[in-house]
Amino acid sequence: MHDSSLFSPEVRRLIRYLNLSPHPEGGYFCENYRSAGVIDKSGLPDYYNENRNFSTAIYFMLPKGHISHFHKVKTDEVWHFYGGGSLTLIQIFEDGRREDVQIGSNVFEGEHLQYVVPANCWFAAFPNEEVEYSLVGCTVSPGFDYKDFELGAKSDLVERFPEHAALFDKYSL
Ligand code: GUN
Repeated sequence: MHDSSLFSPEVRRLIRYLNLSPHPEGGYFCENYRSAGVIDKSGLPDYYNENRNFSTAIYFMLPKGHISHFHKVKTDEVWHFYGGGSLTLIQIFEDGRREDVQIGSNVFEGEHLQYVVPANCWFAAFPNEEVEYSLVGCTVSPGFDYKDFELGAKSDLVERFPEHAALFDKYSL
């Protein structure tokens, strides 16, 4: 199913031109910007044990049938819509509340060109029906580090939020 020879020519071209690689959460990404500037850990909250770059930005693409599996990051993450079709982003907040948002260009129908996923919120995303791919950007500040990123294990998420078991079954690893 995730054999790249099955991608549309446009998806294959974008992966090549934008130099995208598989992301551990699913989908394809390329880090396009990592600030040269570094914030000393003394200037960061206690949950950072090391320095971080000021900011980072990635391209992120989800081809049809691909999922950004439930994960969370320690910082707010700004999603920016760039191309292809819209996607659904599912958020589960720390209190268990679920809120879905649409990332896309049809702002008149409630889609978001920019959307901020709050820090520590569990979230997953997938391209909508009939969409060949969704191409977005994700920016964070302080800059991204895998130490600030957690992929949710299905069993842990189901145990913590049993009311969302069906959702985690479909969209977590
Ligand atoms: N760099 C590598 N992975 C990610 C990610 O999931 N989000 C952001 N913002 N940057 C990344």
